[in-house]
Amino acid sequence: MELKDRIIIALDYSDEAKALEMVELTREYAGVYKVGFELFVSAGPDIVKKLASLGGKVFLDLKFHDIPNTVGQASGAAAALGVLMFNVHASGGLDMMKKAAESAAKAGRDRPLALGVTVLTSMNDRVLKEEIGIPLGANEQALKLAKLAKQAGLDGVVCSGEEIKAIKEACGKDFILVVPGVRPAWASGDDQKRVITPREAVAAGADYIVIGRPITKADDPKAAAKRVLEELQPA
Ligand code: C5P
Repeated sequence: MELKDRIIIALDYSDEAKALEMVELTREYAGVYKVGFELFVSAGPDIVKKLASLGGKVFLDLKFHDIPNTVGQASGAAAALGVLMFNVHASGGLDMMKKAAESAAKAGRDRPLALGVTVLTSMNDRVLKEEIGIPLGANEQALKLAKLAKQAGLDGVVCSGEEIKAIKEACGKDFILVVPGVRPAWASGDDQKRVITPREAVAAGADYIVIGRPITKADDPKAAAKRVLEELQPA
């Protein structure tokens, strides 16, 4: 895989034109674009085709979480859009994740990667325990869900920089890790708390890094994307 294909830029926009403009600006330095709820709900599934026509591969970040049959069907629809990867909540359980993996596999040779979302980084030990009744801490729960995702046949998980090493050790080097919360040393942390630099993330074993505002809100997004890619070059 080329280094630039490890860089996923988060297109957190409701305006399709802005999203497409960001792709034009940065596509020399990034291979993948993340389409989340905001853009997907505003622009509709056609946005995936438009991004593809500009040469961008798509991470469809819709975090499916429903009964196994529904998630299986939605995963089939995601695969039919021709995305590079999509995700489901691992807390939806083994059967639900198996259906997602099966639907991805049915897409054949160009099948998408099906990923699990472990524990949202907006949740901490207190929220897990006191609000939703999960006794394990966030890191332990994330590891537990990553193992379950692997057992279900998913290709990998989305996890924080802190969890990369433990999950790679437990699930193997081929288990794909997509890591958000990435901040180059020169960028602001924004509201991200547990941050890791692009180079640290890849050195720890991240297969892909997700990066949004340090590029999309930079005065010069093209230069910022170039700088992130340069940081990833081996010294
Ligand atoms: O702008 P920033 O780099 O913080 O954007 C990160 C992207 O990754 C956002 O789209 C955010 O929703 C997403 N994300 C995250 N932390 C997670 C999962 C997804 O920041 N644990």
